[in-house]
Order: sequence, then C-alpha cells, then structure tokens
Amino acid sequence: MRDFLLSTYPWIKGLHLAAVIAFMAGMMYLPRLFVYHHQSEKGGEAERFFAQMERRLFQGIINPSIVLLWVFAGLMLYANPSILSQGWFLAKFPVVLALAAIHGYYAGAVKKFGRGERPKSERFWRIMNEVPFLLMLAAIFLAVVEPF
Ligand code: HEM
Repeated sequence: MRDFLLSTYPWIKGLHLAAVIAFMAGMMYLPRLFVYHHQSEKGGEAERFFAQMERRLFQGIINPSIVLLWVFAGLMLYANPSILSQGWFLAKFPVVLALAAIHGYYAGAVKKFGRGERPKSERFWRIMNEVPFLLMLAAIFLAVVEPF
C-alpha cells in the first residue's frame, strides 16, 4: 500500500490541490452570498433564492471538497510520515485546523439563514470574507516555501 502511494504521490498531491482550490472557492464565495442575503428584502423571493444558493454551495462543493482534501492529505502523510515532524507542517496544521473550524461555523450560519434568520451583520460577513483567504495564503506558503 505505501509503495503504491509513494509511486502515485505526485497525483495524490495534485488531487489534494484540486480539492483545496474547490474548497477555497466555496469558502470565499459563501460570505459574499451572506452579504447579499443581508441586503435582500426579508421574506422576499431573493431571500429564498440566496438561502438555496448557500445550501447548494455548502452541500454540493464545500463539504465534499473539505473531505477530499483531508483524505488526500492523510494518504500523503501515511505514505510519508516524516512530514509529521517537519517544521512547515507543524506550523501549517493549526492554520488548516482554523479553516476547518470556520467551515463548521459556516455550517451553522447556512442553517440559520435557511431558517430565515439573519445572523451577524452585513459588515461582519464582509470582513469574514477575508479571513479564509489569509489563512489559505499562510497554508500555501508554509507548504510550498517550507520556511522551517
Ligand atoms: C485548505 C487548506 C490547505 C491548503 C491551502 C493546502 C495547500 C497545500 C499546498 C499548496 C501543497 C503543495 C506543496 C508543494 O508541493 O510544495 C500542499 C501539500 C500538502 N499538504 Fe496541504 N493544504 C491544505 C490543507 C491540508 C491539510 C488539512 C493537511 C493535513 C492534515 C495538509 C497536508 C499536506 C501534505 C502532507 C502535503 C504534501 C507536502 C509534500 O509532500 O511536500 N494540507 N498543501
């Protein structure tokens, strides 16, 4: 099994990156929908439309891609367990855990918006829109540059 994973390692890393791109696209688009949702008329057609888009984006793209990026990461760590003690990975892990925590927070928000609630404020979601992007930058530079 490990020999097979080592021989296909670049493909697994490519699949990890493909899942990361889909996940980050969803994580950066969802708060934008929350901003538009806040701007829409309460109980109106647009509100129902945004709630549906948020749910479909979350269930159809964000959830499958976060599962896949962790699965491919786990396969790489199983193939090459020495990574677990490398400085860049020890610094990257809390960053990707923070992204997973925000994913969980967004799951709650999608449910609330789906129930017709309006959690937080438009300004909050505008700011929140930047946080996953900054965490993604940190994860990318830690994994590619391996500064320590
Ligand atoms: C969503 C956040 C994530 C981003 C943006 C990200 C980004 C990257 C990038 C850009 C690479 C390629 C590095 C290179 O080829 O030099 C990579 C590889 C890797 N990532 Fe991630 N990753 C994320 C999540 C994770 C998670 C959750 C884990 C583990 C729990 C993980 C573990 C790894 C491992 C083991 C490699 C292979 C490193 C190597 O062999 O050089 N990543 N990641």
